[in-house]
Amino acid sequence: MQHLLLNNGVRIPVLGFGVFQIPDHLECERVVQQALAVGYRLIDTAQAYDNEEAVGRAIKSSGVPRADIFLTSKVWVSNSGEQAAMASIEESLRKLDTDYLDLMLIHQPFGDYYGTYRALERALKEGKCRAIGVSNFFADRLVDLCNFFEVKPQVNQMETHVFQQQVTLRPYLDKYKVQLQSWGPLAEGKNDFFNQPVLKKIGAKHHKNVAQVALRFLVQSGIVAIPKSSSRAHMEQNIDIFDFELTPAEIELIRNLDTRRSLFCNHHDPKFVEALTALKLS
Ligand SMILES: NC(=O)c1ccc[n+]([C@@H]2O[C@H](COP(=O)([O-])OP(=O)(O)OC[C@H]3O[C@@H](n4cnc5c(N)ncnc54)[C@H](OP(=O)(O)O)[C@@H]3O)[C@@H](O)[C@H]2O)c1
Repeated sequence: MQHLLLNNGVRIPVLGFGVFQIPDHLECERVVQQALAVGYRLIDTAQAYDNEEAVGRAIKSSGVPRADIFLTSKVWVSNSGEQAAMASIEESLRKLDTDYLDLMLIHQPFGDYYGTYRALERALKEGKCRAIGVSNFFADRLVDLCNFFEVKPQVNQMETHVFQQQVTLRPYLDKYKVQLQSWGPLAEGKNDFFNQPVLKKIGAKHHKNVAQVALRFLVQSGIVAIPKSSSRAHMEQNIDIFDFELTPAEIELIRNLDTRRSLFCNHHDPKFVEALTALKLS
């Protein structure tokens, strides 16, 4: 597995495994155990996914040393603010049955996320997190945060795939040395993703499928990707991307697929913000 270096010197695997939309605890435990057995060493969960306990159990029973796993979680909006966020970090640690997180993110740029960031800074100082960061922070929010706090976020996790390549955000990530991590690297199959003709054609040349070409494009561009799969066959395909290289011409063809738009949501739509901020955790 290749690694990248975060701005505080912490190493992060360039490919990981996401567990969004696997709320069933037995299913989640099985899936994470399988992912670890297949070779994934980065697991991405969140307070809002309601599966931190299952992830913790899967890690414990996997036999893989905790130190070899890069574990990420995210503070949900309803836990925003310094005190609530600090308490929620403790709760995540308890549920995940671990002394530390490798990465803790602010899930959404809503609520009192300045207070949340202060809690993350504290958690970093106290060794409860090895790295901290944000998610879904578009360039304006990110720049504001970077200019307000001493500790720059190590990561910004954003919807990033061949149809949304985050070209507006990326110069600012470079400027503030924030690592881009891709959520939805396979666009959850939207837009007939797995039949995309350009990716199919490139894949045929390398004896790889569309998912493998799409993931290779991200990691070869220096972006950390965290595909989700409940199928062992897909897990194996998605990690089998380190034995080929896309040519500059192929990269250019894939760059041209960018629509610069989300396939999922609009963070600037008040109705979407209302829906997210109404979501309370049980
Ligand atoms: N920060 C945020 O706001 C945010 C938002 C969304 C997601 N995330 C994180 O990012 C992770 C990944 O994103 P995502 O789960 O939304 O979507 P994704 O990884 O882009 O897509 C997952 C979908 O692709 C299918 N799939 C996976 N590998 C495949 C393959 N080789 N061939 C065909 N189909 C394949 C999966 O089906 P099978 O299960 O059948 O394989 C699943 O339906 C999440 O799990 C989560 O950790 C974060």
